[in-house]
Amino acid sequence: MRFTAVELIERKRDGLALSPEQIEWLISAFTSGEVTDYQMAAMAMAVYLRGLDAVELSTWTDAMLHSGETLDLSGLRGPKVDKHSTGGVGDKVTIPLLPMVRACGVLAPTLTGRGLGHTGGTRDKLESIPGLSTSLSSDRFMEVLSTHGMVYGGQSENLAPADAKLYALRDATGTVPSLPLIASSIMSKKLAEDLDGLVLDVKTGAGAFMPDPARARELAATMVGLGKAHGVATTAFLTSMESPLGREVGNACEITESIRTLRGEGPEDLWEVTLALGSEMLLLAGGVSDETAARRMLTRAVESGEALEVFRRVVQAQGGDPAVVDDPSLLPAATRRARVRAAESGYVSVCHALTVGIAATRLGAGRERKEDSIDPGVGIRILAKPGDRVERGQTLAEVSYEDENRWEAVRDYLAGAWSIDDHPPDAAPLIGERIRSSEMD
Ligand code: URA
Repeated sequence: MRFTAVELIERKRDGLALSPEQIEWLISAFTSGEVTDYQMAAMAMAVYLRGLDAVELSTWTDAMLHSGETLDLSGLRGPKVDKHSTGGVGDKVTIPLLPMVRACGVLAPTLTGRGLGHTGGTRDKLESIPGLSTSLSSDRFMEVLSTHGMVYGGQSENLAPADAKLYALRDATGTVPSLPLIASSIMSKKLAEDLDGLVLDVKTGAGAFMPDPARARELAATMVGLGKAHGVATTAFLTSMESPLGREVGNACEITESIRTLRGEGPEDLWEVTLALGSEMLLLAGGVSDETAARRMLTRAVESGEALEVFRRVVQAQGGDPAVVDDPSLLPAATRRARVRAAESGYVSVCHALTVGIAATRLGAGRERKEDSIDPGVGIRILAKPGDRVERGQTLAEVSYEDENRWEAVRDYLAGAWSIDDHPPDAAPLIGERIRSSEMD
């Protein structure tokens, strides 16, 4: 044995840098099980507290990227572009976005993740579709991708397995909101996909892992730099996560909202972010002159029904029941309902994404321990968002839940998500800065 986990944890705990050999050994020994979960959890906390310098981060990302197989998509004709979000509340963008870009001719392979902390995971949301699996072997992943031009993969034992293991540990040990751990987690699995282009949605604001805009910008620039260093054209957008995105927060209910979006009937904020990220994906793929043309193509893919058809075919190819596309009531739904009501009249000034996300997790939409299973049918439907006028007693949210004790424990906490003022709030921008690798020094 070249190193021991304890000596490396102590080194990082004491603020010393790890050498490339030490990081490579650590990630490989963690992947094989030689470094235990509890040791890696301690290391994650040490990294959370002490950070990684640029050389450590680059080595850590590469070690995770090479912890398993990497895809070889060179046999597939056409540009391959993916998207990833740093995580948000109600952030279901990937689900409608990929069929939309696919309908515009771009190959869209993706590796989705499970819920992390108070944020939902695309993988959990997709698996609320009866029968659908994102646990695909590499062969099956390639088969769905080459037949349908897109695939909703999941982190697996094959691709970037170190991230899959570490992701689950971080979720249960308070070590998610770390810039180097987020950057290496996202970029290791995305770089394993053999992409031509990558679009990153870096969330900032109350419900983001990097609430501070300056830190979120640093995270965005770090990931774009890692993409550039690996020869992948990468763009990051900073987008607001002050309020949940869209109206639905949960798992099955977010699939319903995604289907509505693919029908052109989705909420405005979700549509705006989806179009912004989608048009950048088309631009990175080439073959479209400018952003206006890209937006037009994406809108046409929805209006023609083509994007919805791609979604239906991929759901079926991954074992899911395609009937949910026409009848979302086939999705799991919790049996009990409750309402959150406005305590006074006025204008909603805040609908606090973090509070809504934590409440949804506690109702069972997310995990508190890594072994937990989620309840796909629980969810929170947001009926009042910042800027909306409400009257005292009006419903701010409808909650679907199963367990009365969980609801009792969360009801007052959830009600605290809304602030109501006499005056409408200033409109805050949803989409902020864009950082492109092609424009970086
Ligand atoms: N998404 C990921 O894949 N990893 C993180 O650490 C955060 C968001």
